[in-house]
Amino acid sequence: MPGDKSIWHRALIISAIANGETEITGNPAGLDVESTKRCLLDLGVSISSSDGKTMVNGNGFNGMRKPENALDVGNSGSTIRLLSGVLSAQKFETLIDGDSSIRKRPMNRIVTPLSQMGAHISSAPSGGCPLGIKGNPDLNSITYDMPVASAQVKSAILLAGVTAGVSVTLSEPHSSRDHTEIMLRRCGAIVEKDNNKIRLDPCPELTATNFNIPGDFSSAAYFIAAAILIEGSDLLIKDVGLNPTRIGFLNVVKEMGAAVEIHNSREESGEIRGDISVKHSKLNAVSITAETVPSIIDELPLISVLGAKAEGITTVSGAGELRVKESDRISLLIKGLRSIGIEAEEFEDGFSVRGNQSIIGGETDTGGDHRMVMTFAIAALASKNGITVRDAESSSVSYPSFFNELDELGSN
Ligand code: S3P
Repeated sequence: MPGDKSIWHRALIISAIANGETEITGNPAGLDVESTKRCLLDLGVSISSSDGKTMVNGNGFNGMRKPENALDVGNSGSTIRLLSGVLSAQKFETLIDGDSSIRKRPMNRIVTPLSQMGAHISSAPSGGCPLGIKGNPDLNSITYDMPVASAQVKSAILLAGVTAGVSVTLSEPHSSRDHTEIMLRRCGAIVEKDNNKIRLDPCPELTATNFNIPGDFSSAAYFIAAAILIEGSDLLIKDVGLNPTRIGFLNVVKEMGAAVEIHNSREESGEIRGDISVKHSKLNAVSITAETVPSIIDELPLISVLGAKAEGITTVSGAGELRVKESDRISLLIKGLRSIGIEAEEFEDGFSVRGNQSIIGGETDTGGDHRMVMTFAIAALASKNGITVRDAESSSVSYPSFFNELDELGSN
C-alpha cells in the first residue's frame, strides 16, 4: 500500500515546526500529499526527496515565511485544517484556498476554536474557504468541547497550541484518530489522553524525529473488501498501519464474519503496523453506530457494498459527517447504489442496505470523490455486468496506482 496519507500530512507539518532535520520514509503517493508538500514549500520550509525518502529541515515554531501567493490545498481537507492551526500562531497573514470541493466544506469548525484562541480568521460567506488567517504568536490557551468527533479539528487546535506554546484541553464526543498526539509526543510534547479528553501542556520546542510511515489502512480497505467479495480470493496485504483508532473497518468486517487476520504486528515510529490476510467469506449484516464511526469514517461507503452481499439488513447511523466530506457521501452513495441495482435507504445520518442482493451494474456518478470512485470499482468486481465509474481519475487524490494494482490482482 502507499504510505498512510493521514500520517504523512502530520509528519511533514510537525517536522516543519520541529527543530532539526527529519527523515520520512514509507512515503505515500497522491495529489493530497503533494498539496501539503507544496504549501509547506510556499511557506519557505526546506523539503527534499530522493530514494523514497523525504528530508525536512525544521526551523522551529517561527521558521516559516509569508507565502507570496494564496496557498493552494487542492482537494485536501487535512492540509487546510491542520495547516490553519500552525498558521494561526505565525506572525504573518496567509490566504488559503483549494478546489471547488474544498470550498464547499465547513471551516467554521476550525475557525471557531482558533478564533477563541486569538487568531483572526475570515472565511467565505458560506463559512468555507478561502480563509484569510492573520496569525498571532501570542495565542491563548484553550479548553474546548468539540461538537463533532474530527481528527482534523482536534489536530488544528493542538497544532495551534503547540506552535504558540500554550496549553490545550479538548474533549471529543467520540475518539478520533490520534496520529497527531502520537507524533507530538515523539517530538517531545506532553500530550495526555483520558477517555475522550486530551490535554497538551505548553511546549517550548519540538525535536525533529524520523518517521517511518506504514501502509495506508484506508487504501488497504478496498482490497480487503474485494477479497471478501470474490470467490476463491486469498490475499496478504503487507505492512499496513493498524492504529486502533483507524481500523474500525477491520473490526466491523470481522463482526460480519469475514476471514481476516493480523500477522506480524509490531510498533514503529509510535504506530502499530502489521500484515493482514483475508479470504473470501460469507457475511452477516451489521449495525454501525456513532461511537464506531470515527474509526471507520472513510471506509463507510464500502460497508454498503459488503452489506448488499450479507445476510440481513446492514445499517449505519450517527454518520452525518459523511455529508461534508469531499462530496455528500450519503446522497451520492444511495444514488450510485440504486443506479447499479442495489436497493438502499438514505437517512440524514446514515443509510441501510438489504442483504443478499445481486449487483446488476450500470453507470455511477462519483462527484469526483476518490473514495466513491474506489468504492464503486470494488462493487463492479462483484457485479453481473460491470460498472462504468465516472471521474475514475479522481482515485489519484489518495491512490494513483489503484486501478493498476486492482488489475494485477485480477490477473493472479
Ligand atoms: C482525517 C480525518 C478524517 C478523515 C479524513 C482524514 C485526518 O476527517 O475523514 O479523510 O487526516 O485527520 P475528520 O477528522 O474531519 O473526520
